[in-house]
Amino acid sequence: MKKKRVAILISGRGSNMRALVEAARAPDYPAEISLVLSNRPQAAGLAWAKAQGLATALVDHKAHADREAFERAMQTTLEAHGTELVCLAGFMRLLTPWFVEKWQGRMLNIHPALLPLYRGLHTHERAIADGVKVHGCTVHFVVPEMDEGPIVEQETVRVRDDDTPDALAARVLEQENRIYPRALALVAGEQVVVRGNRVLMREGREPGAPTRAGRSPSS
Ligand code: GAR
Repeated sequence: MKKKRVAILISGRGSNMRALVEAARAPDYPAEISLVLSNRPQAAGLAWAKAQGLATALVDHKAHADREAFERAMQTTLEAHGTELVCLAGFMRLLTPWFVEKWQGRMLNIHPALLPLYRGLHTHERAIADGVKVHGCTVHFVVPEMDEGPIVEQETVRVRDDDTPDALAARVLEQENRIYPRALALVAGEQVVVRGNRVLMREGREPGAPTRAGRSPSS
């Protein structure tokens, strides 16, 4: 199967972008990273992607009159690079239904919590404050409602008694960096189908079953 052309959208550090880029170097990975796009000129991930020789683009939201103009500019850039799938990786702009619908079923996001718990920001602080024992991360298809949409992959992380939001965030991020490449492989490799709110393995295999490459227990 031909590799899918993937654009990664970032706003900052870009550790998830790096994880995807590194996974996509494997000859049998079903996706290639054809563009890294940032909405912020100073995003550290953008400099890293440039240094790797990847195609990069800056679409600065501040340089556009409104959200629609910004999204139209992103859309033009994505189309110019022959984008087939979009991965949001720490992309911190809300997207309009117009843009989301253009990429329906072809755009993934990673969120630092076990959705549908803890949508939005400050997920680690809120998890600790609530006293939950298990936290984690989610890769899901993007729908117009923020932090909703069919779940492709999740991983759990135990909350420790002495956890701080930063310590917990670091352990969750390690798992994010593992599940995002796995989720993208499932989608780009057309190994999954979406049925309503559920993402199911083709051929009746269960998501999370040990047939998936690279699975390991949560930390
Ligand atoms: C990640 O923890 C990601 O889950 C989160 O931003 C961080 C980006 O890190 N995304 C969101 O909160 C989106 N709502 P990274 O730039 O190192 O990938």
